[in-house]
Amino acid sequence: MDGAAVAIRGLRHAFPGPPPVPALDGVELEAARGQFVSLVGPSGCGKSTLLRALAGLLLPDAGEALIEGRSALGRPGLAAYMPQRDLLLPWRRALANATLGATIAGVGRAEARRRALDLFERFGLAGFERSWPSQLSGGMRQRLALLRTFLMPRDVLLLDEPFGALDAITRREMHQWLQEVWRRDARTVLFVTHDVEEALVLSDAVCVLTPRPARVAARLAIDYPRPRAPALVTDPAFVADKARLLAALDQHGARSGDA
Ligand SMILES: Nc1ncnc2c1ncn2[C@@H]1O[C@H](COP(=O)(O)OP(=O)(O)OP(=O)(O)O)[C@@H](O)[C@H]1O
Ligand SMILES: [Mg+2]
Repeated sequence: MDGAAVAIRGLRHAFPGPPPVPALDGVELEAARGQFVSLVGPSGCGKSTLLRALAGLLLPDAGEALIEGRSALGRPGLAAYMPQRDLLLPWRRALANATLGATIAGVGRAEARRRALDLFERFGLAGFERSWPSQLSGGMRQRLALLRTFLMPRDVLLLDEPFGALDAITRREMHQWLQEVWRRDARTVLFVTHDVEEALVLSDAVCVLTPRPARVAARLAIDYPRPRAPALVTDPAFVADKARLLAALDQHGARSGDA
């Protein structure tokens, strides 16, 4: 689609061996502007590899990936990227951690601080600006890492299992909260998760990946009205979609554990 926020064509990659480890096998994927698209697939299938390629941090063997029409391969910084591990710097206070990505992306220090302070409120972290990462709970650290990603002046966000380390209750809270934050500025999100329910609650579309090497096996459009309340998970339409998604994972041999 012309004008897509993210367009991935025939992306292929193998890590050098011996033996070589094929991780991406002709990935095709698109996200329209403002769309929230999730990627689900089993552990080790190549999800993080795909996001790292899009983030410009890993040069794949073949294919193309465009972000807002510009080639992203080998060009870090076109999108805001949150890696699978939160990578907060333990020797920087929360506020200094939050502004790091934005200042690297060229936002002035004072401006980055001003915007960060606004977001601390919105992200439920007001009052913790001067805390060290070690003084924050797991959920707060994840919000801080997300805040840092949101603070980057980019229209496309690449989020790699941002809630992977959280318990089910905190996760559910984070889903409500992320929907609100995302709805406000309607940026395009590519969201990696193992959790089918999480993907359905948050997304406009869910892409099912095959086991390694990853390929997009199926794409489901998800169009429940927004905002989506926690009770959505008991709605018959939701339950039916969850069954469809799990069947797609099974059909492609892609289901493992909670995926
Ligand atoms: N730098 C690397 N060098 C060699 N092999 C790698 C490297 N990074 C990833 N791999 C391999 O590529 C495959 C895909 O890894 P990747 O991290 O993309 O999976 P994933 O789908 O994100 O898994 P998870 O759900 O566990 O995070 C794995 O077999 C992994 O061992
Ligand atoms: Mg991963």
